[in-house]
Amino acid sequence: MRKKVSVVGSGHVGATAAHWIAAKELADIVLIDIVEGVPQGKGLDLLEAMPIEKCDCRVIGTQDYADTGNSDIVVVTAGVPRKPGMSRDDLLSTNYKIMKDVVAKVVQFSPNCILIIVSNPLDAMAQAAYKLSGFPRQRVIGMAGVLDSARFRTFIANHLKVSVENVTAFVLGGHGDTMVPLPRYSTVAGIPITELMDAPTIAGIVQRTRDGGAEIVKYLKTGSAYYAPSAAVTEMVEAILKDKMKILPCAAYLEGEYGIKGLYVGVPVKLGARGIEQIIEIKLTAEEQEQLNRSAEAVRELVRVIGV
Ligand code: LAC
Repeated sequence: MRKKVSVVGSGHVGATAAHWIAAKELADIVLIDIVEGVPQGKGLDLLEAMPIEKCDCRVIGTQDYADTGNSDIVVVTAGVPRKPGMSRDDLLSTNYKIMKDVVAKVVQFSPNCILIIVSNPLDAMAQAAYKLSGFPRQRVIGMAGVLDSARFRTFIANHLKVSVENVTAFVLGGHGDTMVPLPRYSTVAGIPITELMDAPTIAGIVQRTRDGGAEIVKYLKTGSAYYAPSAAVTEMVEAILKDKMKILPCAAYLEGEYGIKGLYVGVPVKLGARGIEQIIEIKLTAEEQEQLNRSAEAVRELVRVIGV
């Protein structure tokens, strides 16, 4: 049986996620948006690329949630993006309203799907989707850590002039200014970066990672990043559809792990066919734990505002 992935929101992130997913021939794709014509146009355009790409994915665009029925995965990118000077948190109430509407319809037509939430502010929106859907926490996952650690990896690889393939990195915490890149657990061919770069260099890369989203917003002015965010979504989709048991940093609902309860925060998870198969608890130093707590507190303030 073919797998089916629906992508809610056919803006840059949604459409580019559809593009990567189709190019990897992972699933049939439904692009859905409230804007009439845009998902249909982008969907048809992508479908017409399939003979060239030698992929047999069916791609459609629609306004009708019935078309998304029985999706294996639904990726939610709907919402407004940041403008220069805005923080992800400034999007809270607008995107929460959108999330309410989207999740109700997704649940109605795909009650067994796995939800991947991409809308910002990420951790709060994942928590909203979790509460609104009534799904188990295994099936509601926030995308952010893969993106943040990809940025971290890019900067490490650039600085050391090594292949990005050699670099693994971990970023924990909320997808915001308080995110916690973990140099101790970030390696180049297995060597911790703390052995390869001095502390000020690492601190600079850590800060650039934290500001990675804003750096792109500043250039684009009318929107935020989409190639790397959608590539991150695709890595998660692939891990789930292929039941890879791949360990990736994702936003997950913590129930006491890392000493945090009742909150979505970015942590390493194992992704497989059932979604989050396991939350991996790694040992943190007191300082790292303190940073994670601070980041969790920032997320907690947001979820308090929207009451989820
Ligand atoms: C970013 C936005 C999408 O980090 O949150 O680029």
